[in-house]
Amino acid sequence: MARRTVTCTINGTIREYSVDIRDSLSDMLRGQGGLDSIKHGCDVGECGACTVLIDGKPFNSCIYLAIWAEGKTILTLEGLSDKKGAISDIQQAFIDEGAVQCGFCTPGFIMASVPIITDDKPASRDEIRKQVAGNLCRCTGYDKIINAIEKTQLKRIEEKKAK
Ligand code: FES
Ligand code: FES
Repeated sequence: MARRTVTCTINGTIREYSVDIRDSLSDMLRGQGGLDSIKHGCDVGECGACTVLIDGKPFNSCIYLAIWAEGKTILTLEGLSDKKGAISDIQQAFIDEGAVQCGFCTPGFIMASVPIITDDKPASRDEIRKQVAGNLCRCTGYDKIINAIEKTQLKRIEEKKAK
């Protein structure tokens, strides 16, 4: 089957991969990139477990062709850790709020929340729910996830004000 070379920036580093033109971005990132935070849940764009940011916006990477990533900037959960590998505040908030049970959905929820937690304007709980409406969790009942996102966005806004 036809193959093509894809060059893109992943978590701050330029990467080049040879992909089958039918490969999804999630196939490329997990299979060749070794980025295991990306989960194959439904593989049809319905659960959000494979969410990554592409040029700053959340996408379901299972229904995004790898070849479309040419020249794009991609961020995955692995890219949220600092240089020493310490987890980010949003990951810690998920732990502290009990928003993780089996954890399968967690990377996708966190990546879907990035536009909220990096915005200077506080989002309401309803706005947070809308932002992560494409992400499914079968364990937590959602409230704890919303708590973790809300807590992180308010913390970051306070930190920016203090600077
Ligand atoms: S695995 Fe991509 S949306 Fe479910
Ligand atoms: S924590 Fe299990 S699916 Fe969300």
